[in-house]
Amino acid sequence: MNNAVSTVFVGISELTTNDDELGQLSGVALVTEGERVVWVGPAARAPEADQRVDLGGRAVLPGWVDSHTHLVFAGDRTEEFAARMAGQPYRAGGIAVTVEATRAAGDAELAGVLRRHAAEALAQGTTCLETKTGYGLTVADEVRSARLAASTVDEVTFLGAHLVPPGWDADEYVALVCGDMLDAVAPHVRWADVFCETGAFDEDQSRTVLLAAAARGLGLRVHGNQLGPGPGVRLAVEMGAASVDHCTHLTPSDVDALAGSDTVATLLPACDLSTRQPLPDARALLDAGATVALASNCNPGSSYTSSMAFCVATAVLQLGMSVAEAVRAATWGGARALRRETGDGAVGVLRPGSRADLHVLDAPSATHLAYRPGVPLTHAVWQRGRRVVPAAS
Ligand code: NIG
Repeated sequence: MNNAVSTVFVGISELTTNDDELGQLSGVALVTEGERVVWVGPAARAPEADQRVDLGGRAVLPGWVDSHTHLVFAGDRTEEFAARMAGQPYRAGGIAVTVEATRAAGDAELAGVLRRHAAEALAQGTTCLETKTGYGLTVADEVRSARLAASTVDEVTFLGAHLVPPGWDADEYVALVCGDMLDAVAPHVRWADVFCETGAFDEDQSRTVLLAAAARGLGLRVHGNQLGPGPGVRLAVEMGAASVDHCTHLTPSDVDALAGSDTVATLLPACDLSTRQPLPDARALLDAGATVALASNCNPGSSYTSSMAFCVATAVLQLGMSVAEAVRAATWGGARALRRETGDGAVGVLRPGSRADLHVLDAPSATHLAYRPGVPLTHAVWQRGRRVVPAAS
């Protein structure tokens, strides 16, 4: 017997489902039972449920799926940010500052920082969150980061190959990442990533890391083409990575490679703004048929925001994406980048069988996300069928 509580949501002005058949709907109701959506259809034909929630003419989206963050960290890089705004370039080497602070922090401090940022994201409508290791860079510190992350977020990525730690020979460090470090971290993570960029790991080193991770059964992701053109996108496609993230500097052949692949191009516009990089050519990607995701890249160095709404507004106002494209990229796109967009419990979609992750805007349509940039529009959030914002009293 199923004892899960059912809830019928009415008063929905616009429902974004990201379902190819359902599309974007008005005049509808949605029913959840336990952690799942069980019914979407005309409000006039909504079935009875244990509870009824009237949303008062507000828009409903799937919760944001933030597929790229670095939340296991300690310390602060305000000064580096201020120097950048005064004209200094962003350098990947700033990562070492956070590595030092992270290694020095106790477990409780690291867990607290992680939980605080995860809660901040949830309060803004992010109901599915990925985060990475990568500020530990020793076997023990990377395992600790992975373990803490696994207890807090939905998806964890091993990023031991974030930077060659100061004092290390690059090839010896790659051997450590692919050997003892991967062995120790793999039980705690589903994904592995590599920062394939000048100043981090070159193409051969990156391929070595990805091959080792794939051999351990991990899914692959790549940080690529962030600070300049390079091999990251090509390598990600060659290796069948689920996503290549940043994609700020793309050649036409990178765009073609992505369009002909299953690799999601994850754009991080908050990072590009915060590092004074050009903005990525989202139109070229979309027009070529590539799958695009938007993510916050929340981290203390290059992109210290957890606001997916900011990323969506920026994508519309500055990247030339339509509201529908941007919202889809920040929900379904992120889910696709994490390979969670289909099946029972899918995220980034609202249809029977999907996770009941509802983001209710204090606005009649999703267009307000770009029309009213910077205005906190999250009215309420349900995660796995439970109201989490405002928290149930
Ligand atoms: O995605 N690119 C590499 N890693 C992060 C930056 C982290 C940092 O600067 O601390 C990023 O931007």
